[in-house]
Amino acid sequence: MSLVEKAKKAAAYNAVDENFPANAKVVGIGSGSTVVYVAERIGQLANKESFVCIPTGFQSKQLIIDNGLKLGTIEQYPSLDIAFDGADEVDSQLNLIKGGGACLFQEKLVASVAKEFVVVADYRKKSPSNLGIQWTQGVPIEIVPNSYATVLKSLYALGAKNAQLRQGGSAKAGPIITDNNNFLIDADFGAIENVAQLHQQIKALVGVVETGLFVGMAKKAYFGEESGEVLVWG
Ligand code: A5P
Repeated sequence: MSLVEKAKKAAAYNAVDENFPANAKVVGIGSGSTVVYVAERIGQLANKESFVCIPTGFQSKQLIIDNGLKLGTIEQYPSLDIAFDGADEVDSQLNLIKGGGACLFQEKLVASVAKEFVVVADYRKKSPSNLGIQWTQGVPIEIVPNSYATVLKSLYALGAKNAQLRQGGSAKAGPIITDNNNFLIDADFGAIENVAQLHQQIKALVGVVETGLFVGMAKKAYFGEESGEVLVWG
């Protein structure tokens, strides 16, 4: 296992061990490569028949099934005891950039109704100060498909240095389609001075479903370090 993989696993196992409520009934499972270890650890719990897991997308649903966990929907369970998820970048205020894996809308929906939202990540995800420094691919923004040209134009007007419709590259000719049948834009604003304000400005654009800026939502963040230790923020 590589150093980064070990770091992800250590963060995820620690986060579950220290935060999973003994009497949990509804648990959110995020998306990405770090959360794989969260689902694995939760799948090892002796009482795993006593709670339901809510996914944040297709991959997450498969993780829940593969680890023998009970699957539920956010429509059935609109209130969660806890949610775990990865992040693309985390600042010291626990603001996040998410959506590198294109699942940001359902991730935010689940996190928004969880009593506790715990982030798991490896050492590369810590921002030294502002968001937009470590994660240089831009803020992921989920949009209604036919709004992409107008939203791109508006993002430049808001100060984006670069904004691109996310394409599938060699894996798909054309735009990436999210789990909600939408498109994604990645908008690079450089180091973000005011995360809450930028989120509100982008969210106000017609066509924007959600931004990958998670402001004031996370309670704790667990980082697997290169040393093998786990650093906790929050
Ligand atoms: C999915 O859209 C993302 O928000 C992920 O949670 C984020 O990209 C973290 O993924 P990794 O754990 O793979 O770094």
